[in-house]
Amino acid sequence: MIDNQTIFQTLVEIENSLRFLAANGCRGFAPTGHVLEKLEKWGKGREAFTETLESIQADLGDCQRCNLARGRNRIVFGDGSPNARLMFIGEGPGAEEDRQGKPFVGAAGQLLTRIIAAMKRSRDQVYICNIIKCRPPGNRNPESDEIKTCFPFLARQIAAIQPDFIIALGTIAAQTLLGTATSISRLRGRFHEYQGIKVVPTYHPAYLLRNPDKKRDVWEDMKMLMKEYQYED
Ligand code: URA
Repeated sequence: MIDNQTIFQTLVEIENSLRFLAANGCRGFAPTGHVLEKLEKWGKGREAFTETLESIQADLGDCQRCNLARGRNRIVFGDGSPNARLMFIGEGPGAEEDRQGKPFVGAAGQLLTRIIAAMKRSRDQVYICNIIKCRPPGNRNPESDEIKTCFPFLARQIAAIQPDFIIALGTIAAQTLLGTATSISRLRGRFHEYQGIKVVPTYHPAYLLRNPDKKRDVWEDMKMLMKEYQYED
């Protein structure tokens, strides 16, 4: 049995190590919800260990880390509440998002807004972002090195928000978060997990615009989520 004094000393040593790493340029720490709960019980607020969305965005800066920087107009960091319990993650910005610097503001975005409204929520109560933050030329799929370069920032956004549920919109979001090559049609319909957070993979709104018969499946996925989620209306 470890005594409280040892636990406290260990925490202080961890804190000192993290401060040392931060002072030497290390950015980003993604504790799971489970770890955060433990730290809070031990009297350390999560603010002591997690970053804010503002500090992550500042670190991202005028990102030139991959080739997408050359063709983009605006970085699309994310939008919504930093305290959101629901986080929607898409693939990457399209033309309209690139123009406005906001996620899901084009045709697919309007459908996503309607899905969120059907869940009795508004866009400012949830958080919306993408696997990559810059528009790929001609809206092609993001390449694996682009995802690899961008993903640490998304991981830090997730760690900062600590949502209860992540809705992974489409193949790229679901496969990236879950580290799998399984198709979206096989992933959807049940809960998965990312860092202790429940993940609900479902079809991308742009796919729904082309295949309206799949809207029923998305609504089934959202109903599954709502059943699990204690709504405070
Ligand atoms: N499609 C996405 O995946 N993300 C957006 O922000 C817009 C369209």
